[in-house]
Amino acid sequence: MEKPRPASAPPLRAVLFDAYGTLFDVYSVALLAEQLFPGHGQPLGVMWRDKQIEYAHLVSTSSGGAHYQPFWALTRAALRYACRRLGLALPAGHEEQLMNQYRHLSAFPENREVLQALKAQGVVTGILSNGDPAMLAVAVKSAGLDGLLDHVISVDGIRRYKTHPDAYALGPEATGLPAAQTAFVSCNSWDALAATWFGYCTLWVNRYQLPFETLGTEPLHIGTSLRDVLALPGLKRLPVQGAAA
Ligand code: LAC
Repeated sequence: MEKPRPASAPPLRAVLFDAYGTLFDVYSVALLAEQLFPGHGQPLGVMWRDKQIEYAHLVSTSSGGAHYQPFWALTRAALRYACRRLGLALPAGHEEQLMNQYRHLSAFPENREVLQALKAQGVVTGILSNGDPAMLAVAVKSAGLDGLLDHVISVDGIRRYKTHPDAYALGPEATGLPAAQTAFVSCNSWDALAATWFGYCTLWVNRYQLPFETLGTEPLHIGTSLRDVLALPGLKRLPVQGAAA
């Protein structure tokens, strides 16, 4: 954790999480990929993820969004690309198995207790994700996180993916709280960067000891696990029994 917020900074009243890579472990598919394609599981997992994000940016920034496809469709397209690129034949059965695994990604182990602690403190919680509503609903349910999230916000309704500012604007629209009073938590450095540009109080969770983007802006806070959310300075702390923060 770094850079304490100035005393004048408004208190944080909401925490919005990115979903894929932050709450749900996208690289957990590598295990199945390794079984299906021995020796290629790890590179396939990485290339699949990178291409999925690239496609999201591509359709958001081209032709006024005319080529938008839901995240599930982009995820499938990215899998097909990654297999072709690695020279791996992808029989329909393997594709379905991998997509099904993606639908039920493992959640990072600390998620539940962090969300429970936030709820107990009276903090508004939510997801703000590129995922489409159906895939988010299944992921939240399979990870046992339903009931712990006040908002599950998908960009699908506006057909613009993060990092488009309209996508980040969905957070304040849903919660009624300004971005400056909202912590935005992402393990994806590109996401943490764009959310910082948008005006959120960002926490980049650097799970894999990676460098941050080198475009001249730093996230407001850096952590190594979702637990670091609970130590964010300015986070509203409301005793369970009542009394104001
Ligand atoms: C999300 C992915 C892109 O928005 O991380 O959930």
